[in-house]
Amino acid sequence: MSKRFYITTAIDYVNGQPHLGHAYEKVITDVIARSRRSLGQAVFYLTGLDEHGQKVQQAAVAEGKSPQAYCDELAQSFQSLWRSLGITNDDFVRTTEPRHKEFVQAILARLHAQGQFYTATYKGFYSTKEETFLTDKDRLPDGTFDPSWGEVIELEETNYWFKLREHQQWLIDYLEANPAFVQPDYRRNEVLGFLKSQPLEDLCISRPAARLSWGIPLPFDPNYVTYVWFDALVNYISVPAAHGDATVLAAAEPEPKTRDSGLRLWPADIHVIGKDILKFHAVFWPIMLKAMGLPLPKQVLAHGWWQKEGAKISKSTGNIVDPVAVINEWGVDAFRFYVVRELDIGPDGNWTDTGFKARYQAELANGLGNLVNRSLSMLKRYRQGIVPARSDGLAGEAARVVADTRSSLENHRLQAALLAIWSLITRANQYVDQTAPFKLAKDPAQAARLDEVLYNLAETCRVLAVLLWPFLPGTATKIYAQLGLCGEPDQFAAAAWGGLPAGHQLGEPSPLFPRKEA
Ligand code: MSP
Repeated sequence: MSKRFYITTAIDYVNGQPHLGHAYEKVITDVIARSRRSLGQAVFYLTGLDEHGQKVQQAAVAEGKSPQAYCDELAQSFQSLWRSLGITNDDFVRTTEPRHKEFVQAILARLHAQGQFYTATYKGFYSTKEETFLTDKDRLPDGTFDPSWGEVIELEETNYWFKLREHQQWLIDYLEANPAFVQPDYRRNEVLGFLKSQPLEDLCISRPAARLSWGIPLPFDPNYVTYVWFDALVNYISVPAAHGDATVLAAAEPEPKTRDSGLRLWPADIHVIGKDILKFHAVFWPIMLKAMGLPLPKQVLAHGWWQKEGAKISKSTGNIVDPVAVINEWGVDAFRFYVVRELDIGPDGNWTDTGFKARYQAELANGLGNLVNRSLSMLKRYRQGIVPARSDGLAGEAARVVADTRSSLENHRLQAALLAIWSLITRANQYVDQTAPFKLAKDPAQAARLDEVLYNLAETCRVLAVLLWPFLPGTATKIYAQLGLCGEPDQFAAAAWGGLPAGHQLGEPSPLFPRKEA
């Protein structure tokens, strides 16, 4: 079996309902996964939840629930949101599952036996919220710690530490030799800047169970649980192990008891994450993998952060976007479209309700929706919905857009792909205005010309359905159905011009994006 294209998202903390930031990341990852499948690759898309640690424990306590019961309830919300968003993940990991916990413990036992950890007592300032020791570098100019660290306490504690210092130089060399490893480039430079400017501190991988019980017990010392990040990052390999990927099985046990299923996932092709957790993925994770003797992921792709109406998204101020409410009001494809079209993978973005409505109206309803509706309605009215003989009037333009879209998709330039696709929509709408089929229809001498125009429009709609599928799967499937075609437009190869056969009978046209009252 050849290796699957393995793509992951960050696993979300279960300390509240899923929000725009979580949803954005799952959507862009879904678009990449769907485009790879459409381009003919076998894909494995993994997402899930990060259920251990202080944040989750505190959130559960605040609601008077046991952490597990609290996580179980919220896991439903996350999974149901991903279903309504059309997310095509192949597995869903929860870090409280035995398959994950056992794998983490096997890794820890092995690294411990290899002498990768040591114990040391450390006295310093500790952020309980972020579960991490702070240093003087984290102090503001006035000597205090930023409020984002939450409560900061002075703590003296003995813990297990993972030696990182000896890894610093090879990681710098690796990042320099492999520009694609961290993308976009400015994020890679950030990581290099960090690594070159200071000696790497060792990583504290344990927390005393007496202080924080909600975690995976260290297999070699029951007085401690595993630091939440050491637990969480391992999800990217514990799931392949559970599926019988021999590469990762070997890392946990020298002679794996789990059977090799033949499935090959690791190394991951892309870890999609937000910019705030870059250090964990581009510094700690590669070092952990190297210590386990495993190959590194091919790419860490870091997206930016959303704001809403120019301010930080925050539950306490009520400045939020509830994806469920947006989907209920506007439809799932409107949500998927807006977030991908508005924000390229990399920079920060700003959700505005007026911007959302404007894109819905102009690009979805008046652009795509109007093109498909008038093209198919005219074909129905003037030709009883029977496709005329092939004509190549828009074939050249469509082929250019197909090529541009393919190359953008291959490079995960999702916004650029949408721009290319919309250039074809705009062109086809212009073509309607220029050729004026409603006038041609009144003149029997123009019947052949009308046939040509109607073919070009219907075929453009078909090509658009194929190109749009990774982004707007529901809409793409509706366009196919309205064209009287069976199945889903989920194979990119079908975007080649001329797929609609003469004599084919259309289905029923109906508006794709109903107009909304202001
Ligand atoms: N649990 C860790 C990740 C562990 S991965 C092994 C975590 N969880 S999180 O729930 O805080 O964030 C999950 C993802 O959502 C992260 O990639 C984060 O960057 C992203 N986002 C959270 N808020 C966001 C925005 N406002 N905008 C865009 N993405 C943001 O970190």
